[in-house]
Amino acid sequence: MKATVLQAVQAQIQAELESAYLYFALGLVCRDRGLPGIAHWLTVQHDEEREHAMKFIEHAHARGQSVRLEDIRIKRVEWNTVGELFRAVLEHEQYISGRIHALYELAHQEKDYPILPLLEWFIMEQVEEEETVRTILDKIAMVGESGSSLYLLDQELGKRSA
Ligand SMILES: [Fe+2]
Ligand SMILES: [Fe+2]
Repeated sequence: MKATVLQAVQAQIQAELESAYLYFALGLVCRDRGLPGIAHWLTVQHDEEREHAMKFIEHAHARGQSVRLEDIRIKRVEWNTVGELFRAVLEHEQYISGRIHALYELAHQEKDYPILPLLEWFIMEQVEEEETVRTILDKIAMVGESGSSLYLLDQELGKRSA
């Protein structure tokens, strides 16, 4: 694996772990604000992001590369309404999609063919993740987020399976 690709993979592992930490942190805030279902949804999201990091780590290891972790740095997400929270999640996922696309482009340039199928999986995974969050935002736009609407949304998101 070329140094440029390895470096980009390392940076992506970091980004996935930072995503995991971000969702974990947001989940704790939801718990405090009396939204256990959304907290659960975010915790499952945290688990998925950790798995994403593992996929890249396993790929690097399979190719004889070692990976070193850096400090976790997450941005502060300020939100008052659940709509704001999920808009921030969507923005974050769009940012991650952009990173995956850039990594895919780099892998092509560097003719790193073995990593392409993995990155193609990630490209589609990002389409799915963005769609999931957009669907939640559509629901919020449709029914609002006060009183029973928020209660039902929290119940529904609490059913997310691992
Ligand atoms: Fe991810
Ligand atoms: Fe994600």
